[in-house]
Amino acid sequence: MSYHSVVVTVHVLAVAVALGLFVTRFYWLCCHSPALQQRWVKVLPHINDTLLLASGIALIVINRFYPFSAQESWLTAKLFGVIIYILLGHIALGRRQRSLSLRWVAFILALVCFFLIAQAAITKLAFLME
Ligand code: HEM
Repeated sequence: MSYHSVVVTVHVLAVAVALGLFVTRFYWLCCHSPALQQRWVKVLPHINDTLLLASGIALIVINRFYPFSAQESWLTAKLFGVIIYILLGHIALGRRQRSLSLRWVAFILALVCFFLIAQAAITKLAFLME
């Protein structure tokens, strides 16, 4: 197994864990579950997000991709998608007082964003642009 495939595997595993944690935490938030207060539930998402970001940066370096260049417009779109996903995730799960309907809208939009990011990575096409 090449170094590249190891890093891609780590990246894709971190993607799957991020999605699983996001959906599970939102479910627990909706049913006011005390599970949300467990220490590992607060810590693991940060560790996984760091792994996701680090493996993503490693893939950019290994592949010699140039974000913000014309050839890599999918990557530029993906990075903007990641920022929007993080913001929506904060609205959906954040500790500030927000109505449940607003959290639901942010949750659904975050999921749409997540799948567009994954699609951009798999097809190497900038979503809604090509
Ligand atoms: C919600 C966040 C993310 C999702 C859902 C996601 C999803 C994916 C998926 C599914 C792949 C595999 C594509 C394939 O099968 O070839 C991939 C590859 C890649 N990701 Fe991410 N990713 C995320 C965050 C990031 C971040 C933050 C970066 C950079 C800082 C990044 C950089 C890359 C690069 C460069 C590749 C290309 C790997 C290759 O073709 O060799 N990703 N991503």
